[in-house]
Amino acid sequence: MYPVLQKKKLAKDIYLLEVEAPEIAKKAKPGQFIILRINQNGERIPLTIADKTKKSIFLVFLVVGKTTELLSCMKKNDKLLDLVGPLGDASEISEFGSVCLIGGGLGIAPIYPIAKALKKLGNRIIVILGAKTKKLLFWEDKFQAVADEIIICTDDGSKGIQGFVTDGLKSLMQKERPNRVVVIGPPIMMKSVAEMTRHRIKTIASLNPIMVDGMGMCGGCRVIVGEQVKFACCDGPEFDAHLVDWDDLMNRNRVYLDEEKICKGGCKHG
Ligand SMILES: Cc1cc2nc3c(=O)[nH]c(=O)nc-3n(C[C@H](O)[C@H](O)[C@H](O)COP(=O)(O)OP(=O)(O)OC[C@H]3O[C@@H](n4cnc5c(N)ncnc54)[C@H](O)[C@@H]3O)c2cc1C
Ligand code: FES
Repeated sequence: MYPVLQKKKLAKDIYLLEVEAPEIAKKAKPGQFIILRINQNGERIPLTIADKTKKSIFLVFLVVGKTTELLSCMKKNDKLLDLVGPLGDASEISEFGSVCLIGGGLGIAPIYPIAKALKKLGNRIIVILGAKTKKLLFWEDKFQAVADEIIICTDDGSKGIQGFVTDGLKSLMQKERPNRVVVIGPPIMMKSVAEMTRHRIKTIASLNPIMVDGMGMCGGCRVIVGEQVKFACCDGPEFDAHLVDWDDLMNRNRVYLDEEKICKGGCKHG
């Protein structure tokens, strides 16, 4: 059992959960994730390790369905039944020169540990954070500590550039060309960033297909990369964004929409 050490609301429908898990915290590297189960009847869901201490890991999640809603209702000292991890390959952390990390919506959280590790190696870090509106932005203070430059984009113009993260990237590319781009967010956003950087900047995306076991056995997380079938849980979750078949990923993620609607509901957010 894994005790919840704290739960915090970061923005509307976005929560942070700190969970005691010293063994996972010891091994976790940027880009890796865990799979959790709240209780015996619960489904297994993957969440990225967004930060850690020596004895705990931080998960940041958006309430989209039944399990994330139940998670949002957990309180300090409640316990998660299972936590498996760290899973997946870690991000490539090297001396790239300058790296632009793009986080859209919930993708803001998983780019943080990658930015932090890249900064430690002396890379110039440019962070582009995108959200529908300024109220949905979070962790700007944490990014201030690791980024050389932060570009904010909001759909409604309530903060920063009015527009999508691709507008932020466009304004950046008018003045400098980073050596690498890392993008995490909704597949449509990652696809748009990949189109902008194609043939110009090596771009890495973290894919979010439906996962079940997280260990390469069920085939649930099948994605097509460079016309080959890969399993995001053990061959990824990060891949060359220019080789990903984005339409296949988006189609597969819609497969259980009807069942997800039936399951929704469970508790009132705490
Ligand atoms: C490697 C990886 C890391 C992720 N990291 C985060 C994160 O840090 N924070 C975050 O908020 N979300 C993250 N996700 C997505 C998160 O797993 C889903 O939002 C969650 O599973 C939704 O479960 P639900 O029961 O609340 O919603 P449901 O109603 O069951 O589903 C809503 C949507 O979530 C996705 N989803 C559902 N079940 C799964 C599953 N087992 N595996 C993957 N996606 C699923 C589907 O796209 C679905 O349409 C990550 C996904 C992957 C693959
Ligand atoms: S989640 Fe089962 S193979 Fe990847």
